[in-house]
Amino acid sequence: MDKPKVVLGVSGGIAAYKAGELLRRFTESGHDVRVVPTASALHFVGAATWSALSGHPVSTEVWDDVHEVPHVRIGQHADLVVVAPATADLLAKAAHGLADDLLTNTLLTARCPVVFAPAMHTEMWEHPATRENVATLRRRGAVVIEPAVGRLTGADTGKGRFPDPAEIFELCRRVLARGVPEPDLAGRHVVVTAGGTREPLDPVRFLGNRSSGKQGYALARTAAARGARVTLISANAALPDPAGVDLVTVGTAEELRAAVLKAAGDADAVVMAAAVADFRPAVYATGKIKKQDDQEPAPIALVRNPDILAEISARRARPGQIVVGFAAETDDVLAHGRAKLRRKGCDLLVVNEVGERKTFGAEENEAVVLGADGSETPVPYGPKEALAETVWDLVAARLD
Ligand code: CTP
Repeated sequence: MDKPKVVLGVSGGIAAYKAGELLRRFTESGHDVRVVPTASALHFVGAATWSALSGHPVSTEVWDDVHEVPHVRIGQHADLVVVAPATADLLAKAAHGLADDLLTNTLLTARCPVVFAPAMHTEMWEHPATRENVATLRRRGAVVIEPAVGRLTGADTGKGRFPDPAEIFELCRRVLARGVPEPDLAGRHVVVTAGGTREPLDPVRFLGNRSSGKQGYALARTAAARGARVTLISANAALPDPAGVDLVTVGTAEELRAAVLKAAGDADAVVMAAAVADFRPAVYATGKIKKQDDQEPAPIALVRNPDILAEISARRARPGQIVVGFAAETDDVLAHGRAKLRRKGCDLLVVNEVGERKTFGAEENEAVVLGADGSETPVPYGPKEALAETVWDLVAARLD
């Protein structure tokens, strides 16, 4: 099979240097990438870098290799165009159909999905001109990722930070596989929990679990791509912040519970992908527990944590709210799943088999989604994004 053809447009912002990582992710996963920088982008990262990393010639103007008609050909042959970073100027040109260099010509000739990953100062992102340009591009079917919030060039912080290259890559992969997402969750608020809780024993030790948070982050990212307002409640996940998502970080099951109850108040759906510790140490030692040479270690007494999934399923914060649970089972997976679905009282339960090397920390997953209505939706082995999309398909159908 031919490698998918990606055009990576780079416009003139300091985040241009981070586009190198995006390029590497594409090339290492079997994509053929043609980099088309603007002349200003070359002030930040030179043509030699883009050419060496992509294995293709690089030019900014339509006047190089004119016999190959690059201003038409590059766009026509692309399976995906992603502009990262997209400056306010580039978004304005794209919205108005200007074509004064190779990148803007490519944007006019491309008929494939186009993704913009903006990066600029907060004032520029919030300016009515930029707002209207972004709305125009989205109306025409382009994907404009929400910039992240955080440190900008210099000492200032705010919205406008370049989204994490790993996040942009995942979204592009999704668009290549399934096309531009339908905004079927637009106007909806969804709450997703991710990661694993840590129950402290003393100031240096905790009881925890192997959950990486990847499935929950995939759920948050795909819901945002489908237009939802997303609150991601993350317990101890060492993952980049997903763009366009409200992130709440927690440590323990009690903190997770408080955050879920707060966010669920106006939520259309709550998806409990976090691995919540069922027990916590009965006593928290304020000083480090020391070993005593002449004594056996004292047993650790445990108490039950609240079952958050059962609690929110029993007392829905609003009528019609959809609650989704996850079940990690090691044997007799479906029978345990059915029983757990009834016990917890949720609408959907994603059942997957776990083991030391299965599911936890992996990039891929295999599951069956059980419905309270008796439905069973198998999801074949594949990326955690694919399972996330199936969960949202089932949630969206129930919300309708
Ligand atoms: N969960 C929760 N609160 C807890 C424990 C689990 O909300 N205190 C949620 C998880 O987020 C997950 C689901 O419940 O969505 C299933 O968790 P699991 O640990 O598999 O189920 P348990 O009820 O602990 O059942 P068992 O220990 O018998 O496997």
